[in-house]
Amino acid sequence: MKAYKLKDNIYWVGVIDWNLRNFHGYITPRGSTYNAYLIIDEKITLIDNVKYYLFDEMLARISDVIDPHKIDIIIQNHIEMDHSSGLPQLMKIIPDAEIYTNATAIKGLKLHYHQDWNFQEIKSGDSINIGNNDLTFLTTPMVHWPDNQVTYCPQEKLLFSNDAFGQHIASNERLEKDFPLDIVMEEAKKYYANIVLPYSRQVQKVLEAIASLDIDMIAPSHGLIWTEHIPEIIDAYQIWSKNITDEKKALIIYDTMWKSTEMIAFAIAQAFENKGIKAKIRNLQLTHISDIMTEVMDAKYICVGSPTINSSILPTVSAFMSYLQCLAPKDRIGLSFGSYGWSGQSIPMLHKMLGDESGCGFKMLEPVKVQFIPTEEILNQIRKNVEQQLNNI
Ligand code: FEO
Repeated sequence: MKAYKLKDNIYWVGVIDWNLRNFHGYITPRGSTYNAYLIIDEKITLIDNVKYYLFDEMLARISDVIDPHKIDIIIQNHIEMDHSSGLPQLMKIIPDAEIYTNATAIKGLKLHYHQDWNFQEIKSGDSINIGNNDLTFLTTPMVHWPDNQVTYCPQEKLLFSNDAFGQHIASNERLEKDFPLDIVMEEAKKYYANIVLPYSRQVQKVLEAIASLDIDMIAPSHGLIWTEHIPEIIDAYQIWSKNITDEKKALIIYDTMWKSTEMIAFAIAQAFENKGIKAKIRNLQLTHISDIMTEVMDAKYICVGSPTINSSILPTVSAFMSYLQCLAPKDRIGLSFGSYGWSGQSIPMLHKMLGDESGCGFKMLEPVKVQFIPTEEILNQIRKNVEQQLNNI
């Protein structure tokens, strides 16, 4: 196992999780990496850590550069277990190493591992000198856990950004310039949609804080390291964190029992198309909710449909709505639709979930509701009604 040299005395010593396909409910068809970084200086410093089951891989990459016993300092930018569960194994090798992190992280690490390691508490803005390099810490609470922080090395113009700017991609390449950029950007978008989106206001503060830093490399804790496309990922984070969407994009998301709700979905899609708005149809039986969330990122219109089943909505739609509400996209226009047999509760339920302030808080179009199977005439009327409402926006 080899370390990857990023700068004269700075190495990537992370691990590649080729087999990861599900990250707490978010599907990761490309796998992921847990990135850790080694700085060879007067004080040998390890930044971040890896998942416990790949610890030996990190150790082998560190050993490619130095004897791991020589590590003096660990910087723990985040406590989530993908970046901390290797720590107990590491601390058996270097029990006296200093662990620099913030008070929230120290408390969280103690609650995870129940060890009284040599914690050194830092505050936002603090710096330490490790020889030729300084390391400055900026706490970034709720991007996406309360303990998150980033670490900046001014001499090397390097920002260790932890989860921010990450992507779930397992690859042999380490730098984004050596990998197809469209895939890196798409995976960064998926990561933002499924992990970071609810904390967009806090992301804005982080973007403000790092705007004054001179950065020529961003080293996140997942995926490719940013070198040549830093302006692109910063611009994308600006757009995503401001909930800026494309007025010409609609998503029609549904599940169906006997195809009636599906017929309505297609009629609504045609109405959007007739008004020059691109409509994507997503059947929840066929597309994973984490992929749909990626598409929610730039769609202005979010239409959700379910037939009524036992006075409620289908479980697939319920799961999607729960996921959507938690990830909290803002400034969208919603529409609920569905077919029903005799009671029709699913449509007002969806309307409330999408429109209420306690739900998604979207501005809503009029719901579309059809008893049993729509005729062509009814579908035409749906198209006309939706088009009419789009004219009035
Ligand atoms: Fe990559 Fe929040 O852990």
